Amino acid sequence: MGIRKAVIPVAGLGTRFLPATKSLPKEMLPLLNKPAIQYIVEEAVSAGIDDVLLITGRLKRAIEDHFDRIHLVEKHLEMSGKTELLRIVVEPAGLANLHYIRQPEPRGLGHAVLQARWHVGKEPFALLLGDDVYQGDPAAISQLIAVHEETGMSVVGVLPVSMAETGRYGIADFGPEDANPAKGPVLARDFVEKPDPEEAPSNWAIMGRYVLTPDIFEALEETPKGRGGEIQLTDALRTLARRGRVCVVALQGERYDVGDPVSFVKSTIAMALRDPAIGPEIRDFVTALLAEGVRQAAAAAEEPGAEKRA
Ligand code: G1P
Repeated sequence: MGIRKAVIPVAGLGTRFLPATKSLPKEMLPLLNKPAIQYIVEEAVSAGIDDVLLITGRLKRAIEDHFDRIHLVEKHLEMSGKTELLRIVVEPAGLANLHYIRQPEPRGLGHAVLQARWHVGKEPFALLLGDDVYQGDPAAISQLIAVHEETGMSVVGVLPVSMAETGRYGIADFGPEDANPAKGPVLARDFVEKPDPEEAPSNWAIMGRYVLTPDIFEALEETPKGRGGEIQLTDALRTLARRGRVCVVALQGERYDVGDPVSFVKSTIAMALRDPAIGPEIRDFVTALLAEGVRQAAAAAEEPGAEKRA
């Protein structure tokens, strides 16, 4: 069966962005002029999905507002002849059929996904996490959908990370020994949520994109609390992997990590540099800043006593 539904969990507390996220959902932080969540919804839509379920929570109403019409502003833009602005203001409301379910308490990603059970029913679905924005053609989620259509299995998108970073991600174990997810889908044997480097079965990390078969919901029901005292999606994936029902494949395309402030800044710079409209201006700006930095470093090195300090 084709993939008709997408689930996007947005109930996270956004603690890495405090104090900005005291009153603003982290998913509404803008990458250039669009909130991060809009890129994620657009990715699902580009894969032919028109039913999108957001798992939301406290303080997330701004996300719902973003995908609604806003007649007062629209009228103002219309009257002042700002047609392009009017178009981009109206656009989010027409993207897809959006649905919202609340996760009543923050009990982990697995618990958030479980809230989608009755909406999704007995069909495979796409799961997109908001901390990673992907751009490229075909879209990241479309790459996984294609593998699901070939194999009928759950498919998890992965990317290599340095061994020092395994503790930040779900890590895949797969076989046989010479298997390489960069060359095509490989069968997953197991997954481990955020292992220390010594315990990591590989350096291939789960990167926010999944196609899941509906048996994930039964697995989640039976999954006890895991890492951090939370119900982990990765632990439920383990159950399916041990039945030989999951494969992993490397995601292609540009990835913009918007999960913490430093990554967010890097992603903003990278996206701005690649934007044909503003790229040249940003490149000149960054080049001038770097030159200034080099000049200051050189001047500091020439100051008397600089050698002693160094
Ligand atoms: C979640 C998952 C983890 C995955 C990561 C990035 O962690 O639990 O397995 O690797 O997203 O997709 P979080 O970043 O929410 O802590």
